[in-house]
Amino acid sequence: MKVSVSAGTLSGTKADIGILPMFEDDYNATIQSLHDDIPALSLAIDSGDFKAAKRTQTLLYTGIKSMPRVVLIGLGAKKDASAKELRNAAGRALKACAAVKAKKVTFVLPDTSLAINEAAQALAEGALLSLYKFDKYMSKEANSYKQPEAVTFIHADKKAVAEAKKAIETAEIISEGVTIARDLANAPNNEIYPETLAKKAQELGKAAGVKVTVLNKTKIASLKMGGLLAVNQGSVRPPVFIVMEYNGTKATEKPIVLVGKGVTFDSGGISIKPGAGMSDMRLDMHGSATVIGTIVAAAKLKIKRNIVALVPATENMPDGGAYVPGDVIRLMNGKTVEIDNTDAEGRLILGDALTYADRFKPQAVIDFATLTGACMIALGGVTSGLMGNDDTLKARIKAAADTTAEYVCELPLYEEYEEQIKSDYADVKNSGGRPAGAITAGLFLQHFIGDYSWAHIDIAGTGIQAKATDINPKGGPGVGVRMMINMLQNW
Ligand code: BES
Ligand code: MN
Ligand code: ZN
Repeated sequence: MKVSVSAGTLSGTKADIGILPMFEDDYNATIQSLHDDIPALSLAIDSGDFKAAKRTQTLLYTGIKSMPRVVLIGLGAKKDASAKELRNAAGRALKACAAVKAKKVTFVLPDTSLAINEAAQALAEGALLSLYKFDKYMSKEANSYKQPEAVTFIHADKKAVAEAKKAIETAEIISEGVTIARDLANAPNNEIYPETLAKKAQELGKAAGVKVTVLNKTKIASLKMGGLLAVNQGSVRPPVFIVMEYNGTKATEKPIVLVGKGVTFDSGGISIKPGAGMSDMRLDMHGSATVIGTIVAAAKLKIKRNIVALVPATENMPDGGAYVPGDVIRLMNGKTVEIDNTDAEGRLILGDALTYADRFKPQAVIDFATLTGACMIALGGVTSGLMGNDDTLKARIKAAADTTAEYVCELPLYEEYEEQIKSDYADVKNSGGRPAGAITAGLFLQHFIGDYSWAHIDIAGTGIQAKATDINPKGGPGVGVRMMINMLQNW
């Protein structure tokens, strides 16, 4: 879908459908100004059926050939306008456009209480993100209409158009990053497994000017990444460790390192999961999808930071050769781990990646992982769990998350919880049992970090959606990409 912006008016442009956002405050004035050109609008208004209340929407037929349909979207009081409300409203409006199989859409850019570029970015993101479906495996005939070919934002004022232009281009690149993450996350394990994930990272990196290095099993073994090797033991597909590097500023500036859990399928291993819902575990590499989508978007936006993305990738499978409960393994930083449960595999591969991250002398390391069912139970699909050792870094993430409405909530890493992951045989145990499961997983990771600021974001709930929302699809929503881009832009 192409998005653009130009100077114009609703009645002066030609499209299959127009989208007209309205506030309660200037509802009458908006209708008055359009009354002569599109009389149907005032008829609908006279009925009293639509008053521009927040989160309402109605489809009108205008009787005008050049603009046969108009969707009115209600945004409530002007002072309540927020990026989130605009993004979601645009998402709902585009769904109405798709429902009538519109090809060309004209979207009126409203004057809100936000800066024009902020409003334009939010509306464009909502429009670009809302119609995504992971449907590439469905036969074409059943599914010929995909989405509108073009959405043109219009504003009467040329200066506003100029300001909106850059914001809409930014929204396009960010949405591409989110789409990359969604495509990777939702792909089944027979498409995306460690080696094909690495291949995708190489292709995407090449197109965006990001350097990509893939460490193979031999290299992983020589680095003594015992966590990644142990989890991989039961799999016939070898592991990979993907390193992506983008330099947006001088080489002397320390990089921000993003780490993503890349378990392309998590069966639980010998501690096997129940069958019901196990197919969701194709999404257990959403963390890797998030960091790949982010670094690609950051490079295309030419963000002035140095960024590294690290992805330890493997399947977690049961097999005669698989690692088993009771095993004691040694991770890259030399610490030993008692395996209590082979289903607590994410923390083992992340432990090695967090140790490897220290090589980059990072100013901060942020990891994304579908790490614990406990986090999903605590915060559901709306909010990710945030943990870490640096209040400034956590505050940066929280501020970005609030702006993009990909919420985070901090969980405490109090040392008292360490008791639960003490082992009788090794330095640490890979499971702390059910109580505070998200926290004990975070504490486990902390054993393997280097001397750097670190934050861990548990996306077990937010990375696996049971149903679609205004802007997100069912399945993997690409969570975290918008949040990370916002954080990097404001760093
Ligand atoms: N990938 C899962 C966590 C998960 C569960 C993500 C449900 C999304 C939805 C992770 O590898 C796992 O299995 N964690 C275990 C840890 C336990 C054995 C300590 C869990 O949460 O049950
Ligand atoms: Mn698991
Ligand atoms: Zn897992």
